[in-house]
Amino acid sequence: MAPRTIRLRLGGAAAADRSYDITVGRGAIATLGANLAAAAARRSVVIADVAVAATHAAAAVAGLEAAGVDTARISVPAGESSKSPAEATRLWGELARLSVDRHTHVVAVGGGVVGDLAGFVAATFARGLPLWQVPTTLVAQVDSAIGGKTGINLEAGKNLVGAFWQPCGVVADIDTLATLPDREFTSGLAEVVKYGVILDADFFAWLETHAGGVRDRATEAVQHVVERSAALKAHVVERDERETSGLRAILNYGHTFAHAFETAAGYGTLLHGEAVAIGMTAAARLAESLGRVGPDFVARQDALLRALGLPVTAADLAWTPPAADDLLAIMGRDKKTVDGQLRFVLPSQIGHVELVDGIDATLVRGVLDS
Ligand SMILES: NC(=O)c1ccc[n+]([C@@H]2O[C@H](COP(=O)([O-])OP(=O)(O)OC[C@H]3O[C@@H](n4cnc5c(N)ncnc54)[C@H](O)[C@@H]3O)[C@@H](O)[C@H]2O)c1
Ligand SMILES: [Zn+2]
Repeated sequence: MAPRTIRLRLGGAAAADRSYDITVGRGAIATLGANLAAAAARRSVVIADVAVAATHAAAAVAGLEAAGVDTARISVPAGESSKSPAEATRLWGELARLSVDRHTHVVAVGGGVVGDLAGFVAATFARGLPLWQVPTTLVAQVDSAIGGKTGINLEAGKNLVGAFWQPCGVVADIDTLATLPDREFTSGLAEVVKYGVILDADFFAWLETHAGGVRDRATEAVQHVVERSAALKAHVVERDERETSGLRAILNYGHTFAHAFETAAGYGTLLHGEAVAIGMTAAARLAESLGRVGPDFVARQDALLRALGLPVTAADLAWTPPAADDLLAIMGRDKKTVDGQLRFVLPSQIGHVELVDGIDATLVRGVLDS
């Protein structure tokens, strides 16, 4: 099966066409060299997660060199702590040492950590270098590599410093997922279920039917999962690139709860997708307590999450959450709250959600206590 291409269409000032292709499929990394050559790149710097430096990043470098693109490489330590001002400073220094100029392309190879970090460095060095995303985790292939959000963390909070910086292209090679640990792969499926709930009832039903194949990482199932998810994300980004109309905000389904769980648990206890899975479960119950959906919705979402090997409660993760009031306090500090009011993305049916403001804290407490 040859890689497939999804076009993300973006306009811009002075009729600048910032549209780009998302290439999804087995062996897609082999297309990278030709893509950069077609973009008239003569030099590139591959910034890679050290976990994939010898494998997928080496394949990217080989392809670029074969296409006549002179390529340097930099490795980044694995883990969220690399999304730091210190690591960004180190990379800026490396780019300066390599005499990188605005005609040098940056190629980010890794998961969301390297994509966000290298993307931010590309956005800022020399006021902006052309960027290519080569995501090697499921989270990155279905979510973080698409849409141009880049950034780093501060002590004061996650993703507090960043920039919108769209890539010239995204190359999602599903073969790279073969080396991904099971827990990371499964965690990425939470965002996939999210797309079904918020936008695409048919995709949700497909996931129900194919849960076994997805869980076993059958090639055709993984191809469809990544392709459909990437297309749905692209669709949202095309219509609300900078999260101003409210459409892009629906991608935060389950995330107000998830961020509170992640903060409360402390970094490294829960994977993001695990927190999103129990966050979506909480959001579904909140919608039920508001009469927006019936128990059938909650049961169906729970069943799909479980069929894919995801948790639906903190107990499934052997994690004891803090008291509901402590979680509510964390939610109140979330940058997605508006004027201290709790705002949630809540479903009305499979495939459709709405942004709901001014939710009574008592109802949220009820969900957290149950
Ligand atoms: N920019 C966005 O729109 C956006 C969206 C969602 C998430 N994010 C960010 O993404 C990050 C999470 O991304 P992630 O889940 O990909 O985490 P990650 O980048 O930390 O990767 C997870 C782990 O897998 C390893 N790894 C990566 N590719 C591998 C491979 N092919 N084989 C074996 N190991 C591999 C990494 O070293 C790491 O240990 C967070 O920082 C989050 O804030 C950004
Ligand atoms: Zn997420």
